[in-house]
Amino acid sequence: MTSVARSRAPQARPFCLDIERDGDVVARERLLDAAMGPERFRKTSERLRAGRKPALAMVARDETGRLIGTVRLWHVAAGGRAALLLGPLAVDAARRCDGVGGALMRAAIAAATQAGHGAILLVGDAPYYTRFGFARAPRVVHMPGPVELDRFLALELRAGALDGAEGRLVATGERAGRRRATRKAAHARAASA
Ligand SMILES: CC(C)(COP(=O)(O)OP(=O)(O)OC[C@H]1O[C@@H](n2cnc3c(N)ncnc32)[C@H](O)[C@@H]1OP(=O)(O)O)[C@@H](O)C(=O)NCCC(=O)NCCS
Repeated sequence: MTSVARSRAPQARPFCLDIERDGDVVARERLLDAAMGPERFRKTSERLRAGRKPALAMVARDETGRLIGTVRLWHVAAGGRAALLLGPLAVDAARRCDGVGGALMRAAIAAATQAGHGAILLVGDAPYYTRFGFARAPRVVHMPGPVELDRFLALELRAGALDGAEGRLVATGERAGRRRATRKAAHARAASA
């Protein structure tokens, strides 16, 4: 799927949204390293992502096809209630405040809704994510490690989808297996390049 996204200002450079492809792995990992550094692997959210295949992965590309943004969502559950965990979301520093992050968020939410998912959870800055409808996650749902409670956010795509959700989130996505090994190798190559 490729779609042309809106740029927010007339002078803003164009970009398009696309489903992430296998060939995007090196550029994606480089972008995430630049945006978040190695600390990203120590985030609590990583415990729900490591070794799993994402439920949905989208990228933004510039007019030359270069990857300039990434967002991924992961299958999780709490107390038997299924949801998606969103993250990481990152945009190339040279292309921020151009609407790329917002376009990726709206496309990810729309794709998750269309696929029938009931809710999205994430850990992030509330002042950014409230514009997409996110609010404080139910207090009875917990991440599997330390997070600032004000940053643990939820968006119900279907009213009541998180009713009855409680306890610690667990990863429920398909295991990545060999593909993860390939990704780790690609990341090692990118880091040493
Ligand atoms: C957060 C991020 C993805 C936003 O991407 P973007 O393409 O610049 O986003 P948009 O252009 O759609 O929106 C820009 C707006 O969001 C605001 N914004 C960006 N990051 C913000 C934050 N952390 N908190 C509050 N507002 C934020 C900008 O100030 C700008 O505000 P404006 O609309 O009033 O001008 C990007 O800044 C980024 O990659 N940051 C580093 C990685 C990161 O922090 N990821 C999110 C983890 S919480």
